[in-house]
Amino acid sequence: MVEFVLPKNSRLTKGKTFKAPEQAVNVRVFEVYRWDPDTDENPRIDRYEIDMDHCGPMVLDAILKIKNEIDSTLTFRRSCREGVCGSCAMNINGKNTLACIKAIDDYQGVIKVFPLPHMDVIKDLVADMTHFFAQYASIKPWLETQTPPPADTERLQSKEERARLDGLYECVLCACCSTSCPSYWWNSERYLGPAILLQAYRWLSDSRDENTGERLDELEDPFKLFRCHTIMNCTDTCPKGLNPGKAIAEIKKQLVTRHEG
Ligand code: SF4
Ligand code: SF4
Ligand code: FES
Repeated sequence: MVEFVLPKNSRLTKGKTFKAPEQAVNVRVFEVYRWDPDTDENPRIDRYEIDMDHCGPMVLDAILKIKNEIDSTLTFRRSCREGVCGSCAMNINGKNTLACIKAIDDYQGVIKVFPLPHMDVIKDLVADMTHFFAQYASIKPWLETQTPPPADTERLQSKEERARLDGLYECVLCACCSTSCPSYWWNSERYLGPAILLQAYRWLSDSRDENTGERLDELEDPFKLFRCHTIMNCTDTCPKGLNPGKAIAEIKKQLVTRHEG
C-alpha cells in the first residue's frame, strides 16, 4: 500500500494506493471516494488496482473484491446483484447507475466511483436516503379505495388497464434519477424529484385507485411538482430505462385537464 500524490490545492486528504499482485497482467484501476465519520482524513480518494483475471465482470464485482480481499473498511450498499433492489446506486465515471448491472468493460481507463451526488454521506459510498424515503411515503404509495372490494374476487384490471402501469412499476427506487436532477439538488427539501413523482404517477395511473382527486390536490404545489424544468437528466440516467421526465409531464397534463374539465 502506498500513498499517491494529490492535485495541487486539492481539498481532499491524501488517499492510499493498493497495488495489484506483481504477477497480475490484466489490471484495472478503481478510484473510490472515501468518507469516514470516525477519522479526520475526509474526504479522500483511494486507488485500488484490481487483477481482472480474478474478478467478475461488473463494477459491483470489483467493489466486492476490494471489500473481501483488499480493504475491508470500504462501505457500500448492495443486495440482489441483478438490478432489482436498487441499493447499489452510485456515481460511476460521472453518471449515476447501478453498479451490479454496469460492466467494467463499458469503461475505458481509470474507473471513478463516488456516492450519489448532493446527498449526505453516512460512510464512503453510502448516501443518507432518509429524506428520499420520507418523500416516498408522503405520496401514499399504496392502493387507496373508497368502495368495498367485490365479495367474491379481487379488484380486477383489464389487460389494457394493467398495461398502463408498464414503465412505472419497474422502478426500483434507486434514486439515480433524483440525484442527477439539478432542481432536486437545489430544492430537495420541498421538490419531490423524479423518482417520487414517477411513483406518484404510478398510483394516479392505477385503475383500481379511487383517490385520484386527493392525490392531484397534494401534488398541485409550486415546489412539490412544478420545480421540474424538463431538463431530462433523470430519464437520461435511469439504469432501468424508465422515463420519469415523461411521467412528470403526464401529471402536469392531468392537473391542466382537471382545471379545464
Ligand atoms: S426532467 Fe424534471 S425531474 Fe427530470 S432532471 Fe429535469 S428537472 Fe429534474
Ligand atoms: S425511475 Fe429509474 S432512476 Fe429513478 S428511482 Fe426509478 S429506477 Fe431509479
Ligand atoms: S445490488 Fe440490487 S440493484 Fe444492484
